[in-house]
Amino acid sequence: MKIISSPLELKNYLKNKNQTIGFVPTMGALHEGHISLIKKAKEQNALVVVSIFLNPTQFLKGEDLDKYPKKDEADKKICELSGVDVLFFPQVEDIYGVDEVSMLAPKVRGYVLEGASRPSHFNGVLTVVMKLLNIVNPTRAYLGKKDAQQLNLISLMVKQLFMDVEIVPVDTVREKDGLALSSRNIYLTPQEREEALKIPSSLRRATVMVTRGVLDSKEITSDMREILAPLEIFYVEILDREFNRLLDVEIGNTIILVEVKVGTTRLLDNIWL
Ligand code: PAJ
Repeated sequence: MKIISSPLELKNYLKNKNQTIGFVPTMGALHEGHISLIKKAKEQNALVVVSIFLNPTQFLKGEDLDKYPKKDEADKKICELSGVDVLFFPQVEDIYGVDEVSMLAPKVRGYVLEGASRPSHFNGVLTVVMKLLNIVNPTRAYLGKKDAQQLNLISLMVKQLFMDVEIVPVDTVREKDGLALSSRNIYLTPQEREEALKIPSSLRRATVMVTRGVLDSKEITSDMREILAPLEIFYVEILDREFNRLLDVEIGNTIILVEVKVGTTRLLDNIWL
């Protein structure tokens, strides 16, 4: 596995390869969720590039940038064992300069849900993803459905800016008890870890209601809120795949999204029905 930290060196290395390139952008502290993205990229492309870059511009002041888990050596091992061809491992100075051009998230879709409590978060995400896609110039980029709003906004950017990359959504990987894997799960105390199970429980309740024929969004979200009640709820929403509110679940076109705070940790999850 080649490890490259300079954007220009990586561009040069990949230039004229004439092979399909699958790209998996990450912020490190890799887990099985990231690995499933890498596996899918390997299945569908000749070359796989993974980036590990803790992107400062997507964290707001006072958020967890300074304490975000760093596991550089373990991450390199995981990439090597997963068959990654090139690991892009830049420093902040390699990616950002002064007086920068940057991306702006769309004024409506970028400022609802996670964007409502983290204004400017998605500006940072879109800016870094634009830079990374321009450096790697992949055939396909792999993104987790777990971060559904991020996936939606990146897909929107690629479409609206006529970019030449296919965005491939990848299913959420969960622990045996249903908790979605996240680099932030290590912040949870054992008791908080237990409380966090209310998130998958609430999503399971929604699925059961829908299979029993209850499609009314209000009815479903109010049951979900009851399950989540002891936690601080940022939102519980039932949206279509374009992120418009739905009064009734439309099977095959629905995402049910939840974001809560457990202790001091924000956790988000969703199901696609
Ligand atoms: P990060 O949180 O490291 O996630 C990298 C990718 O892994 C994202 O596409 C995310 O949706 C996916 N992922 C996370 N947990 C997952 C799980 N349990 N199952 C499947 N996929 C999962 O998301 C980011 O980094 C950053 O915002 C980034 C896009 C890299 C831009 O900085």
